[in-house]
Amino acid sequence: MSQLNKFKRYTITSALPYANGPLHIGHLAGAYLPADIFVRYLRLKKQDVVYICGSDEHGAAITIKAKKENTTPQAIIDKYHAQIRDSFAEFGISFDIYHRTSSPIHHDLSQEFFLNLYEKDEFIEKYSEQYYDEDFHQFLADRYITGTCPNCSNPNAYGDQCENCGTSLNPTDLINPISTLSGKTPVLKPTKHWYLPLDKYQPWLEKWIDEKEGEWKVNVFGQCKSWLKSGLQPRSMTRDLDWGIDVPLEEAKGKKLYVWMDAPIGYISATKQWAIDNNKDWKLYWKKQAKEEDNSCLIHFIGKDNIVFHCIIFPAILQAHGEYILPQNVPANEFLNLEGDKLSTSRNHAVWLHEYLEEFPGKQDELRYVLTSILPETSDSEFTWKDYQARVNNELVAILGNFVNRVMILMHKFFDGKLESEQERIALDEPFIQSELDRLHQELEQNIETYRFRQSLQNLMDIARLGNKYLTEKEPWKTIKTDPEDARKTLHNCLVLIGHLAASMQPFLPSTAIKTLQMLNWEGGKIGFDQAITFKSGHQLNAPALLFEKVEDDTINAQIEKLAAKKQASAPALQLPPAKENINYEAFAGMDIRIGTIIEAEKVAKTKKLLKLKIDTGLDQRTVVSGIAEHYEPEAIIGRKVSILVNLEPREIKGILSQGMILMAEDAQGKLSFVSPVDDLHNGSVVR
Ligand code: 2FM
Ligand code: ZN
Repeated sequence: MSQLNKFKRYTITSALPYANGPLHIGHLAGAYLPADIFVRYLRLKKQDVVYICGSDEHGAAITIKAKKENTTPQAIIDKYHAQIRDSFAEFGISFDIYHRTSSPIHHDLSQEFFLNLYEKDEFIEKYSEQYYDEDFHQFLADRYITGTCPNCSNPNAYGDQCENCGTSLNPTDLINPISTLSGKTPVLKPTKHWYLPLDKYQPWLEKWIDEKEGEWKVNVFGQCKSWLKSGLQPRSMTRDLDWGIDVPLEEAKGKKLYVWMDAPIGYISATKQWAIDNNKDWKLYWKKQAKEEDNSCLIHFIGKDNIVFHCIIFPAILQAHGEYILPQNVPANEFLNLEGDKLSTSRNHAVWLHEYLEEFPGKQDELRYVLTSILPETSDSEFTWKDYQARVNNELVAILGNFVNRVMILMHKFFDGKLESEQERIALDEPFIQSELDRLHQELEQNIETYRFRQSLQNLMDIARLGNKYLTEKEPWKTIKTDPEDARKTLHNCLVLIGHLAASMQPFLPSTAIKTLQMLNWEGGKIGFDQAITFKSGHQLNAPALLFEKVEDDTINAQIEKLAAKKQASAPALQLPPAKENINYEAFAGMDIRIGTIIEAEKVAKTKKLLKLKIDTGLDQRTVVSGIAEHYEPEAIIGRKVSILVNLEPREIKGILSQGMILMAEDAQGKLSFVSPVDDLHNGSVVR
């Protein structure tokens, strides 16, 4: 039984994508396609629903991109907002509004939120030491700083989050922090910020999250529990940046709101704009109503990297405000991989939506189908072009398309496409088919309502399979000669089944549903989701048309090659030095290279690159000055086995007599690495 009527109305959101690049299939599979299926279903079930999205136009994601493209943040958001909006529209994601966070209505509402919390004394104001890039004269928040994650040791964690393990971080949590502006180690400088005391909300959050056990997806619930277990810390809601929403306080001049404070408020400001445009009351969709049962059901569709923001931080903000509803569910998806590798914007390893739409015109439903079949609902999943081809050819063409096509062709061949019967209306008169259909339809609904979209798509395909099996068993192409009335009845039953298929496919394959209804010559081209399908006797079908085309090998191979070419083009070029002139053996044999151990190491004062090392060479203990200080911390290399050229003429470097040279390997990016023996050789062993 559908549970939808438990709620008066629905507020559905999909994560606001950063307007700093185009959309790819990973975005679609994470937060947009599942939400679109869900919303289309709610609308078909006659629910009051608003579906909200828009561009996230603040934060370091935007300014870093602007710097990279040598342009302004405004130019970046204008370019990508338009591109993303148009791709979504062409692909058929059916937002009620696609808004933007640079709009005045959003700036006003975000400032109002901040002031509401400020006036209630919800923030802790504190000076703290924050990382600062002295070359760029800028504090380094969020993506302006990278370093090693203290939780999982990912060396590329951002200042606000590790995308590898999902942990939410502060820049000062990072090990070996590096400024993404100058590539240098930043210094600490005091600055004042306004912190949301998440620790204060911990007990409330624990209780609230615990109530979701069994209802929320296991991956989402588990992540929330693990953050709560590690203990929440106050989190700054302001930033020292020059792009974003001004902090609305005199004393905070020049500071901006944290992007993760303003972005989720973007869901609300977008709803406000939609309400203005459509003469609705936005408060019904966001504010707590006098009676709890009148509240809207808020559901956030997101990818797994956004869980902490939607399940911990935004709920804490909403709770601190007090007038707003909290999410009923956050059905976050895991990640989608591509051809055995992570999707990556920087490495250009992606299937870009705008390119797909251009190269596969009219094939939106094919991509919707394949992605829905492989949604990363419970664990990461993978898109490959071969699988795309197999699913389109063996499922859409061979099962769904084939059933509809066979029936349409036979109806036209035997009956000129006209449904005729002694009864006024033609209904399904096969009890077994009817009961199977009812069961599959019910399962499909239940699966959608519990966010099991993959399974619900299988239910849809099972209806088509049921039709194919029935048609094959009844063989109307044979009975037309022996019992034409039976052939007619069989085909009528199949047509009723096709009507049901058209109804049920609407959330998943909206264009195909319309095409099917056109072939059926269905009144007005609209069909109810739970409608009892009957045809009037004398009904004339339209001409058959193929619903799907086979995907050829050439098409797929071209896409696979394109991906490989992109990957190669974006790989950093290896700039190896040219080979040197040959030398004779004597020249080589003249070098006395030994295995030694570093027993002492310290920085050489007033230099950046030099370390003074004491090496046990097996022959003696000697001092070597080595230019490796930017690559190794002195304390980290004590005890390290190295190769050392011991008969190099001693040389004075910065007043220190250096007796030999440590052998280092240097890669194309200039990274240095010791040339050390694999086995544990004793000091003095000869290298030759
Ligand atoms: O991760 C992202 O792409 C963010 N722009 C998502 C924001 S979702 C919401 F809170 F606005
Ligand atoms: Zn991590």
